Amino acid sequence: MSNYKRIKGTKDIFGEEIDYWYYVENKAKEMLEKYGFREIRTPIIESEELFSRGVGQETDIVQKEMYTFEDKKGRILALRPEGTASVVRAYIENSMINFGSPQKFFYIGPMFRYEKPQSGRYREFYQIGAEIFGTDYPLADAELIDFLYEYFKTLKLTNFKIKINSIGTTKSREKYKKVLKEYYNPFLPILCEDCQRRYNANILRLLDCKIDKDVAANAPSILDYLDNESKEHFESLKKYLDVFEVPYEIDPKIVRGLDYYSKTAFEVEHLDLGEQAVIAGGGRYDDLVEQLGGPKTPAVGFAIGIERIIEALKKEHIEVENFSQIDVYIAYQGEQAELECIKLSKELRKYKIKTYLNLSKRNLSGQLKHANRLNAKLTIIMGEEEVVDDVVTVRNMETGEQTKVQRSWVTELVLEKLKEFS
Ligand code: HAM
Repeated sequence: MSNYKRIKGTKDIFGEEIDYWYYVENKAKEMLEKYGFREIRTPIIESEELFSRGVGQETDIVQKEMYTFEDKKGRILALRPEGTASVVRAYIENSMINFGSPQKFFYIGPMFRYEKPQSGRYREFYQIGAEIFGTDYPLADAELIDFLYEYFKTLKLTNFKIKINSIGTTKSREKYKKVLKEYYNPFLPILCEDCQRRYNANILRLLDCKIDKDVAANAPSILDYLDNESKEHFESLKKYLDVFEVPYEIDPKIVRGLDYYSKTAFEVEHLDLGEQAVIAGGGRYDDLVEQLGGPKTPAVGFAIGIERIIEALKKEHIEVENFSQIDVYIAYQGEQAELECIKLSKELRKYKIKTYLNLSKRNLSGQLKHANRLNAKLTIIMGEEEVVDDVVTVRNMETGEQTKVQRSWVTELVLEKLKEFS
């Protein structure tokens, strides 16, 4: 046993689990490209200040969840806790505004938050994120939500709910915050520790507290305090969602845990997931680009939690394709057969056949056992006799049926036989 262990809240992903990751990531990439998004890859380390300013000083992320460290030159860096601030930084730093707008980016990668690990909550987790820069048009918000709906349907998920809200512009929110403080004031002594702490620092977050739900239930609705601009934006968003035929619920308690949002906020909840049920979240952040030193640029985006999606797929018993299953195992005996099989492996791989060439000194029956353990569909067997006769044996590993074929016809026969498996 090794003395080294995984860091708490992280995971090793391998074996059959990888098939779920391929399923989720491949479909996401394919669909994001269909919606006109281009990939962006930003570094995993950034300056700590990018997040403390971008995500917000008073958020849980900045207060207690960031992995920060000093590098050898005394710079304070952080492992990114989310992707939006990084993409905004890249957008400004690379003067992407000059490439015309709006611009649509997506990213897939690990994020890091020092949270209490539990089911659905990790310290290293993966997000699929999308951001649109340079439009304040509510159609952009609606298109993102439509993407989420279509994507989850494509994954064959059914038991999820889309919830939308508007948290207004910064100005209209100030008025609401005052009203909310007045409402919560008499309850202050009986509220949970988190709510008491957030009462002054981040009053909106009291609305999504899991403990003081009853107090939140009767709180005044933010939707009654929107200014005209936010109201119109929200009305248009709803209209567009209807045109896209996306089902949604309005939930005035969706406030999001990051500070940069304005107007639209949304979340997707999976109904089988228990405590950590939010599989995607996002919204509009019209002030962030400017706040981080760029030109005024309205923007909107979302991020999906990959681990939670996979959990949801399992809960709904959705089977995924076995992407890594080996098509052909090549077993051989003898020096001459080995040389011939090396050539054969190159030939099969040219035809995109997943080929596993034996790399051991095992005898043929040991190699067949290995092929079985690897769950290969077919095994090609070439012993000394076969070399002499210029033939190979192709074995269907499911039925045990064996066919002898001329060496020059192997690839064709393999391609034919593989069709039986799809
Ligand atoms: P977020 O709500 O903090 O938003 O995270 C988005 C999603 O990431 C969550 O809905 C959840 O599925 C997943 N997630 C968050 N924390 C964890 C964790 N500790 N373990 C597992 N999964 C987790 C953002 O990060 C924003 N940047 C989204 C966005 C993009 N807004 C605008 N553009």
